[in-house]
Amino acid sequence: MSSVVIVGAQWGDEGKGKIVDIYMEFADVVVRYAGGPNAGHTLVVGDEKIVVRLLPSGILRERTHCILGQGMVIDTEVLLGEIDELHRRGHSNLEARLSLSDRAHLILPYHVLIDTLREGSAPADKALGTTKKGIGPAYEDKVKRVGVRCGDLRDLKAMSARIAYAMAAWEPTVRALGGELPSLQSVMAKLEAHAARIVPMLAHTSELVDDAIKAGKRVMLEGAQGTLLDIDHGTYPFVTSSSAGAGGAASGAGIGPNRIGTVIGITKAYTTRVGTGPFPTELDDSDGKHLREVGAEFGSVTGRPRRTGWLDLPGLRYASRVNGIDGLALTKLDVLTGMERIRVCVAYDTPQGRVTSLPIDQLDPPGQITPVYVEMPGWKERLEGVRVLDDLPANARAYVRFIEEQAGAPVYLVSVGPRRSETIMLHNPFVGRAAAP
Ligand code: GDP
Ligand code: IMO
Ligand code: MG
Repeated sequence: MSSVVIVGAQWGDEGKGKIVDIYMEFADVVVRYAGGPNAGHTLVVGDEKIVVRLLPSGILRERTHCILGQGMVIDTEVLLGEIDELHRRGHSNLEARLSLSDRAHLILPYHVLIDTLREGSAPADKALGTTKKGIGPAYEDKVKRVGVRCGDLRDLKAMSARIAYAMAAWEPTVRALGGELPSLQSVMAKLEAHAARIVPMLAHTSELVDDAIKAGKRVMLEGAQGTLLDIDHGTYPFVTSSSAGAGGAASGAGIGPNRIGTVIGITKAYTTRVGTGPFPTELDDSDGKHLREVGAEFGSVTGRPRRTGWLDLPGLRYASRVNGIDGLALTKLDVLTGMERIRVCVAYDTPQGRVTSLPIDQLDPPGQITPVYVEMPGWKERLEGVRVLDDLPANARAYVRFIEEQAGAPVYLVSVGPRRSETIMLHNPFVGRAAAP
């Protein structure tokens, strides 16, 4: 079946944007199924670099239908700002290719305010290091059943009453945090201004996606964040608020799980994390510095330096299991060039004994587990120009094969640089065979 999920197999920023963009050359429809503007997916095309936050990463492929699914949370100001920015850069035919689920919930100014106030006042061991984009409070309102959805923009009067009710519930919290809620009038004024552009994009996207799959179109389901940030599977409570994993693709796009054909997990050749929470293979030495500097590991949304560490195979095996990963895309292999030796965590020693996959709760409390490493020799050659696996230096090839063997899933793609061309394509689920990027 021609529907493919792209899911982050780590703590986000694995390079999902690049991989979606690469495979979109062969697809017709792309659906973002979770998260909001906490995501930052980088696309590098020629000399142009674009970071999309709400827009699906297929947006630069001009014949693609781009869908923002019902599992997302939408900040209309960010969305319209992204569209305007792409217009300014000379991209056209955008709105006509965009459909926005009328069931997706809205991020409103008070959500951003609460996220920011909470992060600012939380004790050091409780702060999550969120992106402060209002993600948590917006999903909280959804679950609390007082949320406001994109479809509500069709009737602003009724929407205003819903917002007044939701804001009243937040009032004591905001006051306790020393803040002040914006006025209902100011919230509505912004939404009224946005409605004229947003309402024409609204659709029953669940039906659109299902129809596309039934018609044999090739559909990409684009995840945001990563498995270890998933509300159910991640390193709770240091997670985001959505179902970032492949399980979220069905509910977030509004289709049955049996409509999903292939799940591709994206992993860097090492690990990064931005924000707080456990990170067993984290490095605080010259190797960690190499990964941060050569890998340009700074948050694409917040600019924060990302924490860096060795590849974590227990984490990858766990991600493989909970997502049902069929194949892996291994990114940023080029960043390891020049390292004398490379370590890979193959197991953890825990108070209960040695484990090779994460029962994730064993990461909590941190400090109770010790990573067990295998050391592999590095390589000196630059990899950006390599297009077939056999042309990789022997040690790099051995590293890829080791990961494949250990993770229990074949490598479908190896990325050796941020550009489209800097890709070794081994398997393309949309065409069923290797294809040149
Ligand atoms: P996403 O959130 O998963 O889409 O990932 P981000 O875009 O936040 O971060 C990935 C970063 O790595 C971006 O700056 C990409 O341009 C860059 N990138 C992706 N693949 C590669 C690669 O194979 N090599 C290098 N050097 N950079 C890459
Ligand atoms: P992409 O899609 C990396 C992290 C935040 C924080 C935690 C909760 O680009 O991979 P939130 O704002 O969601 O409430 O923050 O999740 N986080 C991400 N880290 N990549 C992302 O997205 C992330 N989205 C959220 O840093 O630790
Ligand atoms: Mg990112």
